[in-house]
Amino acid sequence: MASLKETSSDWEYMAQTDPLWAVCTELGPQGGSYDELGRFWQSGQRDIAAAVSHVEAVGLRIDREGEALDFGCGLGRVSQPLAEVFARCTGVDVSPRMLELARGFNPSPDRLTFTLNERPDLSIFADGRFAFAYSTRVLQHIPRRYALGYVGELVRVVARDRGVLVFHAHEVEGGPMFSGLSALQRMRQRSSRLRVRLQKAYAGFNDRDRPPLPPRMHMFPLPQALLRPLIAAHGGRIVDIAPMGFDPMRIRPVLQPIADRWHCGLQPVEYVVVKGA
Ligand SMILES: C[S@@+](CC[C@H](N)C(=O)[O-])C[C@H]1O[C@@H](n2cnc3c(N)ncnc32)[C@H](O)[C@@H]1O
Repeated sequence: MASLKETSSDWEYMAQTDPLWAVCTELGPQGGSYDELGRFWQSGQRDIAAAVSHVEAVGLRIDREGEALDFGCGLGRVSQPLAEVFARCTGVDVSPRMLELARGFNPSPDRLTFTLNERPDLSIFADGRFAFAYSTRVLQHIPRRYALGYVGELVRVVARDRGVLVFHAHEVEGGPMFSGLSALQRMRQRSSRLRVRLQKAYAGFNDRDRPPLPPRMHMFPLPQALLRPLIAAHGGRIVDIAPMGFDPMRIRPVLQPIADRWHCGLQPVEYVVVKGA
């Protein structure tokens, strides 16, 4: 099983070498250009507009006067639009380089701040601090036991009185064909994790921050069966779970359903959780 330190140092390496691709792989091949930035920021606007519509469509009210949290903020692609919807937004990430870039792109430092958190919890934030917490494209890359810990923490830090959490997780599903593909993908990922680990052990101790191989973007499913009791134990109530696809910027519409499921054989879903209601 991959450790938090391992995946965090992979992210720092990706932030240093190819941050745009690492944040939003649909943007193009590895080594994507900063000319793509228009589409990059627009995709963040679309994600937040879709999340707000989803929350309102299930009958919840958003407290726009409050503060939003963007967990795993990367370059601030979705923190920026969150800071437009809410009075303030805090983006938190494990990668110092991602945060340095996010601060450089920040158009409104009075409303939007970025914070480093390398801990397996969110103890830097008090209970109930945020009106809204959001996390996209993050939890599926964190080893399951830590991702579950963060989900519990995200529920803890939203306001007791109707605080809302929206996050994305990945289910294993899709019938026999996709389950087969998904099992193969997971085997491939396990063997690649083992390979990286052996190479790291062999490459030794000279440069621990830099993986000897280009890091891989690991995928860890987070099934509903585990999330439901965890969220309830932290005082949250799941109001809706909707299947979603990633931004189809580069995918032909006819291929979208296949592409969504082929994403390591997993189906991304959006959870809407409310507290105290
Ligand atoms: C694919 S990027 C998504 C960034 C952003 N959410 C977006 O959609 O534009 C994943 C981000 O999660 C961050 N991340 C990975 N593990 C994390 C952890 N344990 N705590 C906080 N952030 C983490 C990475 O550094 C990276 O910036």
